[in-house]
Amino acid sequence: MNKIIMVTGGAGFIGSNFIKFMLNKYQDYKIINFDKLTYAGNLRNLSSAENNPNYYFVKGDIASEKDVKSIFEEFSPDYVVNFAAETHVDRSIMDSTAFIMTNVVGTQLLLDSARTNQIKKFVHISTDEVYGSLGQEGTFNENSPIKPNSPYSASKASSDLLVRAAWKTYGLNVNITRCSNNYGPLQFPEKLIPLMINNANNNKELPVYGNGTNVRDWIHVEDHCSAIDLVLHEGVPGSVYNIGADNEWKNIEIVKTILRHMNKPESLIRFVTDRPGHDLRYAIDSSKIQKDLGWKPQIEFSDGLKSTIDWYLSHSEWIEEIVKGDYVNYYKQMYEER
Ligand code: NAD
Ligand code: TYD
Repeated sequence: MNKIIMVTGGAGFIGSNFIKFMLNKYQDYKIINFDKLTYAGNLRNLSSAENNPNYYFVKGDIASEKDVKSIFEEFSPDYVVNFAAETHVDRSIMDSTAFIMTNVVGTQLLLDSARTNQIKKFVHISTDEVYGSLGQEGTFNENSPIKPNSPYSASKASSDLLVRAAWKTYGLNVNITRCSNNYGPLQFPEKLIPLMINNANNNKELPVYGNGTNVRDWIHVEDHCSAIDLVLHEGVPGSVYNIGADNEWKNIEIVKTILRHMNKPESLIRFVTDRPGHDLRYAIDSSKIQKDLGWKPQIEFSDGLKSTIDWYLSHSEWIEEIVKGDYVNYYKQMYEER
């Protein structure tokens, strides 16, 4: 059976890992990567797929009605997996415009075309951040209230509600996945783990927000990809699936572990002013996908973190190319404000 899967945002961190995962696993699926190539999108992430006859790249904007209509007309995809998004909380605090355009307007335009083109399924890649923040106890399950706290998570929550509405109102076959923090190769080095590896490697300060006791629940990107693959094939129509690996860490513990692995001194750590509205703790209950679809994370955090550090250390040219000058100036501005 030949399936045509349109992956939006496939040049970013998780999307590019997902495309490689799918091309590797299925020889008879065609993957269309529809990506605007923002600062976070990098076609080098997919250089190994370039010559694969089942892989096509089309540059385009999910928030452009013209671009979206034309990609559906040209390829008639059977499935859409929507990764395309603005994804960095700090950037959303500085300016939310692109977050609303891509995450909210863009998702609705995709849903409209998915419906009129009668696709088989729309898988929307969301985040545990839509649930807001936990105290010291408890976990998020699929019935936890949606209480986002940042412009990023509010825009993702809005897109989730639009996806739900497309299911309830028009009967579009949808799934929503809500995953915890991902780590692994090809992540833009503005996010905690690659930023700290890159700074430590360059003997630069490691900026830890607040007192470093905020907790994130980490999952290797490969485990996230295997869960999405399962939801795409076996997810019950209209269902939401949480994805997580029961792997909570305080930020400061992660930073110290990275320094230890890299033989760098803790004196590189610099505690900086806290992020406004900083969510204290995320912890995902993924028992639904484990019970209903038989998914299980495979990668131990200690192994995954070690191989991730090795990957960034051996891909300094990738980091230099993706961060360019813009990134440096952006961070200067953030720190001066704090
Ligand atoms: P990323 O920032 O690395 O990549 C986003 C990709 O989307 C880039 O290739 C970018 O060019 C593309 N894009 C942005 N705006 C676009 C537009 N208007 N039209 C088309 N393409 C556009 O993001 P990521 O970390 O890979 O996250 C992918 C998805 O997974 C997002 O929806 C995010 O909310 C979700 N998610 C991420 C994490 C995480 O830890 N990174 C965790 C849970 C969920
Ligand atoms: P981040 O990777 O931005 O992901 P998210 O905010 O979506 O969870 O941040 C992860 C955690 O690390 C979060 O609690 C904020 C913190 N953090 C720092 O302490 N310093 C940094 O430079 C960054 C980027 C994040």
